Formats: sequence, C-alpha cells, structure tokens
Amino acid sequence: MKATTHALALLVAVANLLACSDNDVNFIPVDGGIGVDSATADVSLKTDVSALDTAVAVADAATTDICVPGTAGSSTLGDLQDAGTPAPPVPFGIDERPATTSCRPLPRPTGLPGDPFPQTLLATGCFTPTDLREPVAGVIPYSVNAPLWSDGAMKRRFISIPDSQKIRILPDGDFEFPRGSVLLKTFELDGHMLETRFFVRHDDGEWAGYTYVWNKDGKNEATLLGEDAATRNVGFTTWLFPSRNACLSCHTAAAGRSLGLEVAQLNGDYVYPGNRRANQMDTLDHLGLFELTPGPAATLARYASPGLASTGTIEERARAYLHSNCSHCHRPGGLQTEGNLPDIDVRFGLPLAQTNLINRMPLRGAFGVPGVMLVKPGSAAQSMLLVRMKTTVANVRMPGIGSTVVDDLGVTVIGSWIASMKSCP
Ligand code: HEC
Ligand code: HEC
Repeated sequence: MKATTHALALLVAVANLLACSDNDVNFIPVDGGIGVDSATADVSLKTDVSALDTAVAVADAATTDICVPGTAGSSTLGDLQDAGTPAPPVPFGIDERPATTSCRPLPRPTGLPGDPFPQTLLATGCFTPTDLREPVAGVIPYSVNAPLWSDGAMKRRFISIPDSQKIRILPDGDFEFPRGSVLLKTFELDGHMLETRFFVRHDDGEWAGYTYVWNKDGKNEATLLGEDAATRNVGFTTWLFPSRNACLSCHTAAAGRSLGLEVAQLNGDYVYPGNRRANQMDTLDHLGLFELTPGPAATLARYASPGLASTGTIEERARAYLHSNCSHCHRPGGLQTEGNLPDIDVRFGLPLAQTNLINRMPLRGAFGVPGVMLVKPGSAAQSMLLVRMKTTVANVRMPGIGSTVVDDLGVTVIGSWIASMKSCP
C-alpha cells in the first residue's frame, strides 16, 4: 500500500470523526456474560482505572478542539524506546542473496519413532552450531516498526525462503511466502534465552508453528516442544511456551497467517551484521526477494513506532500498536470463539469510524465501569479497550493469550490517544 493511501485513510478517519453525531447513534444493546467473577474483576478494574487517570492527565491537557487531534499528546510522551544505533546508513544491509542455505524447509512432524522432524534446534540447520542464537548464512534478520508486546521479552526475527523463490506482496502490503518458507523468532528475557519459534509454510501450503525450548541451565541447547503448552518460572512471572494450536489462534487465517511481515512494518532501518544500517524494504528488494519490486522505500507506507514520538502522531502510534497487537484477531473473520462476538476491526488502514470502537457499548461485559464504551473519546478510564489492556484478570485481559504482564508503553500510548480525543457534543 502506498504512503498516500495511508495518509488518505487518516484524513478520512479525522473527517469521519468530525461528524461525531454519526458515531453517537451507533449504540448496540448489551449483555455481559463473559464468565468472570464480576465481583473480583470489578474491584481489580476499578483500581486499574484510577491509576490510569494520573498516567494520562498530561495528555488530557493537550486536547485540542477537534474530535481526533492529529498530534495532541505526542510531545508529552517523549521517546520511550531506544532510537537505535548511530551507525551511518548505507543503501543495502546485505550485498547479495546466498545461493543456498542450510536452513531447509521442515517436513510435518509424524510423532512416530524416527520422526524426520528436527528434534533439536541444532538439527534444523537454521542457526550456527557454536551459538544457536545466531542464524546461518541465507537466513535474513529483520525487525518491525510496531512489535507485539511479549511480557518484556527481547525478540529477534529472521526469514528463510527456499533457494531462488520469492515473496509476493499483496495489495494490502502483507507478504505472501512461498511454500517451504521458515519464519523464525527468538525470545530472550533478562539475558536468558527462552525459546526459538518456527512458523513454517509446509509443502501442502498450510502453516504450522513449532517451538524449541532452551536449556534452563543456559547451555547452548534447545529441544522441540510437543503439541502442548509448557511453563517455566522466570522470576517475576511464569513464562508460557504456547501450544501448537495457540500459535494459530493468533496467526489467524484471516490475517494471512504470517503477521509482522508487511511493507509498513518492515519499512524502517535495521542494523545488519557489520554495523550496516539500512532500510529493510530496500535491502530485501535489492536481494531480489520480491516477485515484483515495490519501488523505493521512501515511496512506501510506514507504520509509526508506538514508543517513538518522533515517528508519528499519537493517533498513528496508537493505531500501529492496535494493528500489531490486536488486529490479527480483531478483524473480519479473526475471532475463533463462540457467542456474541464483537465486530471490532483495528487494522491500521481502516478509517477510525469503521473500526466499530467509537462510542460503541461493549458486547462482552462492562465489568462495573459506569458509562463504559469500547472507546469513549476523551475518557480513557471509560474505554473498555484500555480497561482490558490494563487488567491481569484472566478472561478479561486483552490479548487473552500470549501475555500476562501489562504493557505500560501500550497503555500509555492508547490511554493518551483516547484522552486526546475531544468528547463529542
Ligand atoms: C498472542 C498472539 C500470538 C501467539 C499465541 C503466537 N504468536 Fe507469533 N506472532 C504474533 C504477532 C502479533 C507477530 C508479529 C509481530 C512481532 O513479530 O512482534 C508474531 C510473529 C511471529 C513470528 C515472526 C513471523 C511473523 O509471522 O510475523 C514467528 C516465527 C512466530 N510469531 C511464531 C509463533 C509460533 C511458532 C507460535 C506458537 C508456538 C506463536 N508465534 C504464537 C502473535 C502471536
Ligand atoms: C487471540 C485473539 C485476540 C487478540 C490478540 C486480542 N483479542 Fe480482544 N477479544 C478476543 C475475543 C475472542 C474476544 C471476545 C471474548 C471476550 O470478551 O473476552 C475479545 C474481546 C475484546 C473486547 C471486548 C469487546 C466487547 O464488545 O465487549 C475488547 C475491548 C478487546 N477484545 C480488545 C482487545 C485489544 C485492545 C487487544 C490488543 C491489545 C486485543 N483485544 C487482542 C480475542 C483477541
């Protein structure tokens, strides 16, 4: 998607919101019934909500006269993430695509004795034997502008595409990978490796997720986890290694299975080996990895980084956060559960009025918050979107899987964004 398309979407979003009364008629009858002990949830949520008031008080003061000001709040937030290393930029991070790599497509596991599926991280051939944190030649590192919050874990990401095959860029900017592709993500917390995840497009065209759990004693060793989830005590929290099914609850078919690999997510600098700082889209294009060249990065869409005030307005950063952290489920066809389902759609490109958030009553419970809406412009405390992000109560917390620790940065950005919206008359 072109930058202009996104710019247009944002303009439309503002225009839509200026017509506030349109949103006010959007009420939907409510009935809770989320299966939570409402007494407990109530108490816990009320505590959360009052703490938030302080967090967003500053942003409140920056509110301007339109319903969704473009920049209010951003200057008060400051840069909450490291802006990267000062290495001078070069045109490409990697000179050429290696003709071949030892990171091969993975077969489907049989679960039988002699299963050809690699049982250890070493056997996958994707990482260097002497240091299994480091990829082999041909495995390309990347990062995303708006990452998924993973309870504070440090993550590194890589892609491996079968020799000479290419990526197709879909009209919405999402990457479609050829069969045999292997996407990799490593998780490290406080200097300890936890897991190395493999998201694999098998020969039959279907995707599946696997994870290798690192040795508890810090040895250079990781072994394949079976179908089911497992946990490990990591001090302040319990780390959950997701089951294979859980991978697909987030890596939804509706979102095209692979999630972070999109033009607007990768359009940013990465410091490649050799301290070479370069734009990722330009680098992948230079390596000939795309079926059709998308054109120079400067002409392409780019998401803001939620924690970096210099990369976008508070609205752009909040929308990028929701896109990355929530839209794989909250988009048409994304929810895999029963009952009266919300039709929230928080994909970045959508005008705000079409996200079904503004002044809509929650369908899945108010949890004792008076006057709560999914998003109530000007009132972060009465916005269920934020209430759900701020709680750790199981079955209320969002996202419901993959995280048990509140993301302070996400809460600040989303809270400031909501607080900066002028409440509609
Ligand atoms: C809570 C939702 C969630 C769960 C559960 C989850 N993932 Fe992901 N995963 C994401 C999101 C969102 C991204 C993209 C953002 C990022 O990389 O920070 C991602 C990215 C990845 C990537 C990088 C490629 C890509 O698709 O962007 C890999 C590899 C990956 N996940 C593997 C797995 C595997 C394997 C499992 C199961 C063992 C799993 N994930 C479970 C949400 C999830
Ligand atoms: C793994 C899929 C998944 C992810 C990721 C996810 N959600 Fe949800 N969400 C659900 C499901 C399923 C429901 C309905 C069940 C429930 O109410 O808990 C829901 C319900 C909600 C509701 C209540 C809607 C209503 O009408 O009452 C809100 C608000 C919400 N999610 C916000 C978020 C936010 C914000 C994020 C990202 C920070 C997020 N969700 C990420 C699956 C997900």
